[in-house]
Amino acid sequence: MAQPGGPGWERRSGLRKTEPYTSEWRQTMKRVPIPHTELEVSQIGFGCMGLGGGFTQGPLSAGHEQQVRLFLDTADEVGVNLFDHADIYAFGRAEEAFGKVLKERPSLRDRIVIQSKCGLRRLEGPYGKPVALIDFSYEHILASVDGILRRVGTGYLDILLLHRPDVLMEGEEVARAFATLKKSGKVRHFGVSNQNRYQMEYLQSFLPDPLVANQVQMSLLHSGFVEQGISFNQSASAYPDGLEGLSEYCRMKGVKLQAWAPLARGLLSGAAVTGQPDAVIKTAALVKDLAAQHGVSVEAIVLAWLLRHPAGILPILGTTRPERLRACVQATTIELSRLEWYGLFASARGLPMP
Ligand SMILES: NC(=O)c1ccc[n+]([C@@H]2O[C@H](COP(=O)([O-])OP(=O)(O)OC[C@H]3O[C@@H](n4cnc5c(N)ncnc54)[C@H](OP(=O)(O)O)[C@@H]3O)[C@@H](O)[C@H]2O)c1
Repeated sequence: MAQPGGPGWERRSGLRKTEPYTSEWRQTMKRVPIPHTELEVSQIGFGCMGLGGGFTQGPLSAGHEQQVRLFLDTADEVGVNLFDHADIYAFGRAEEAFGKVLKERPSLRDRIVIQSKCGLRRLEGPYGKPVALIDFSYEHILASVDGILRRVGTGYLDILLLHRPDVLMEGEEVARAFATLKKSGKVRHFGVSNQNRYQMEYLQSFLPDPLVANQVQMSLLHSGFVEQGISFNQSASAYPDGLEGLSEYCRMKGVKLQAWAPLARGLLSGAAVTGQPDAVIKTAALVKDLAAQHGVSVEAIVLAWLLRHPAGILPILGTTRPERLRACVQATTIELSRLEWYGLFASARGLPMP
């Protein structure tokens, strides 16, 4: 298999060649404000989990750096300025590879928005076995940010997200960590990830400044955030717990909702669907039809479904392949009708609408 960034990597992505790039692409990518901040970000962000070799233990290679160069070139080409990291991606090597290329392009830092996450840890537990845990202690948050800044080679993060809820968290302690980071200029704004409305409200009650983002898994195949809005009071429906009022809360408070895994790992846009539920197979076919009707890629239809939601959801892409990234940003060139939007939702839901 071709290594990321290595010879033949892009060619072997399995994608058809898209039209040559023209500046029109950049023009269709709007900038949207992140409320409560000075930040203006592209409607779509690039996720960095796939940089640096993923969750393997090897060292960084020249191929990993080349992958970042192509990634940043593509972002520039299509008008994307938001990059989503986490201290844990590729065990720090995603940020490290990104940082090495950023160093070659010093003027880039002020033109992009860098977001990273902290909290997930793997420590050696009893009997030498690794234990995965979540740590929102003052010491860990500060140490994590120092590590991120060192690896990325920047003096500040635009946004820091708490990666997953820490059941042992103390609001006062997180607030103290945020205050120290803000005062030192190391982090400009704070947000969360994978938190429900009540967790957000609890944390917010300790903070002087608004939380600016919540990054949650959302896609046509992970649509609990929509389901909770339509299946309330329906005894026969698959009512998802935990998402009650999340999108409404974020809309009211001006918290930017970001969608991770927005492509559902390609299941509706060309990845093999053998053995998948009927609803997935039928929805993938519907996506293909709509793509042909709109003259865009299948990826664009899947992402346009998220973009059409009135909460202003910002998809964070997982691919790092230039061709697939280009296919994805075509989502900004169309707007799905209400009929198309509900048609896709009902199909992916695989159940009659209530
Ligand atoms: N906050 C959190 O807890 C959390 C969790 C997970 C991820 N994230 C963030 O969200 C970003 C996106 O997450 P994700 O990677 O799960 O999202 P995704 O965009 O849904 O999935 C990307 C993966 O799907 C594959 N894929 C897409 N289309 C395909 C197709 N037609 N055929 C075969 N494979 C296909 C890509 O492969 P190729 O690489 O070959 O294109 C890539 O490996 C991450 O980079 C990270 O920044 C956050």
